[in-house]
Amino acid sequence: MNEMNCDLAAVLLDEYRIQTRVREIGSQITSEYRDTVPVLIGIMKGGFIFLADLCRSITIPLEIDFLAISSYGAEASSSGVVKIRKDIDVDITGRHVIVVEDIVDSGLSLQYIKDYLGKHSPASLKVCVLLDKPAAHKLEVGFDFVGFEIGNEFVVGYGLDFNSQYRNLPYIGILKEEIYT
Ligand code: PRP
Repeated sequence: MNEMNCDLAAVLLDEYRIQTRVREIGSQITSEYRDTVPVLIGIMKGGFIFLADLCRSITIPLEIDFLAISSYGAEASSSGVVKIRKDIDVDITGRHVIVVEDIVDSGLSLQYIKDYLGKHSPASLKVCVLLDKPAAHKLEVGFDFVGFEIGNEFVVGYGLDFNSQYRNLPYIGILKEEIYT
């Protein structure tokens, strides 16, 4: 029994559903990128667990890098201002890049990431997101692989945090309202 369970109103996606879907996306990427060596760029911090599972379900050679970003609080998030806390190390010019992100909420972070990485002239730039929250979109940013479409609940686990905690839950749960209000 996980000690963090008592903070959850419900489990939204259990380990089996997540792992099954991650393997499906991994197979899809394996087929699409055969004969290339793509660069997977995990968006920190939330994307680290998804990236770790996804890369192990892809069976072609690939490289991994990380981009860490953070938005400037509520006001900045609505203006789409994002700060880069850790830049990529790999030169992605002419490379096939796949961004690996845990969740698309407003879409502002992803828009920024796509614009930023696009300036490095990759051969291609695709985006893989585990969770999409359409009801929260402030802009419609295209992405290419998606795990699950979810409602507007406050979700934690499998990389996603509240107040820097819950990232280590091996499944995705809906946080009790009393915890975050
Ligand atoms: C979360 C998440 C996405 C972003 C999505 O990151 O990992 O990067 O928010 O929100 P948006 O679509 O409204 O821009 P967060 O800033 O919480 O940082 P973290 O990944 O370090 O938890």
